[in-house]
Amino acid sequence: MKLSLHQSRPLRGDCLLPGDKSISHRVALFASLAEGESRIENFLDAGVTRAMLKVLRALDVAWELDENTLILQGRGPGGLESPEEDLDCGSSATTMRLLAGALAGANVPCVLDGSASLRVRPMGRIIKPLQTMGVPIKAADGDVAPLELSRRAPGAPLRAISVSLPVASAQVKSALLLAALGAQGRTRLEEPGPSRDHTERLLASMGVGIERTPMDNRVILEPPTRPLPPLRFRLPGDISSGAFLICAALIVPGSMVIIREVGLNPTRTGLLDALRAMGAKIDVQVTNEVHGEPLGDIVVQASRLHGIRIEGPLVVRMIDEFPVFSIVAALAEGETVVREAEELRYKESDRITVMCEELHAIGVDIQELPDGFRICGGRRLKGGVRVNSHGDHRLAMALCVAGLVTEDPIVVEDADVITQSFPGFPDCLEALGAKVAACV
Ligand code: S3P
Repeated sequence: MKLSLHQSRPLRGDCLLPGDKSISHRVALFASLAEGESRIENFLDAGVTRAMLKVLRALDVAWELDENTLILQGRGPGGLESPEEDLDCGSSATTMRLLAGALAGANVPCVLDGSASLRVRPMGRIIKPLQTMGVPIKAADGDVAPLELSRRAPGAPLRAISVSLPVASAQVKSALLLAALGAQGRTRLEEPGPSRDHTERLLASMGVGIERTPMDNRVILEPPTRPLPPLRFRLPGDISSGAFLICAALIVPGSMVIIREVGLNPTRTGLLDALRAMGAKIDVQVTNEVHGEPLGDIVVQASRLHGIRIEGPLVVRMIDEFPVFSIVAALAEGETVVREAEELRYKESDRITVMCEELHAIGVDIQELPDGFRICGGRRLKGGVRVNSHGDHRLAMALCVAGLVTEDPIVVEDADVITQSFPGFPDCLEALGAKVAACV
């Protein structure tokens, strides 16, 4: 499918977003490990979370998903069955990395595999520390899927570890914390930056002993002695999906958009801080907290913006938002520089290279750096071009947002990939007043 967008009238209105992707993955998996029936409202029904649910079914977990309400029967401690077939994680690195940890902790042998795009994502980052814990796990060539997890020999314990992780990655941290649920003793992890902490908040709300020193990005987990309880709550909207609407409202003159009941976990709100520092009119109000996750409303108005330099912890707190942030930076006056963001090369695509390629095509003065990019902003974006998603859902949506300010249409090719994380994105834009045409 291709999507065509061009200059929009002002975007106006309220929207509710589908459930947070990271929290959806975690609740499905943690509820499977828990004892009893979990009921989750506003669960994200999208490609990547369906991948997690499909794998859970292959592990004999019973669930049904009806109108975004997930009802799942937990298997309790030791309840997950070893699957007969390889587990297909689709294109979801979160599914593969979190499951590898959880199944290692539960001592369930299996093979974890996925799509061609998942088979190039780095897995050595979980394999090495899991091996240090005594998990018999190996990867196809040491670093990529398929991953083969064997049963631990009788009497071979899973060792707790104390490690300083080389990259700030919530997937790596979560994989190790999930494995640590089945280890002997306390596991201590330290990260170089503040990666998202949904695993810690959710496990703590389920009664697991989690100690944290957020200033140092340290976490300690004490394995639980009792079964995990089931989960019952409504998930906050996904701020990483909201990011596309926030940025769209900022760049389309005359816009004002309200996003309600969206997750406001501070490890996820880096984009809001960056945009405000660029002059964006954004108001945020926290209205509630569920299972340790703050949520609330965001009001955003079209604004005149200037360039900014981004590096350090802010990069980690907005790691998924750089594709759409780059569109805003292209329209802001002056220079924007992003450094210390090499992790962008290991996402659904090498986001540094592909963003530079596609932004060039729409007339942006952008320069690739080894660990980021530099944009000289303030030029008009060029329409009348076809751009490509490179199979990356966030790049596809970012390019759609760019199309909202070009006189001639921007056609985004290979746009079906949007359904991996935000299937309702075109409808959401249309509800706010934009015109989105599917074309051949
Ligand atoms: C995620 C963590 C991040 C993020 C991804 C979801 C998670 O990846 O980019 O979209 O749910 O834990 P890394 O852990 O690789 O940084």
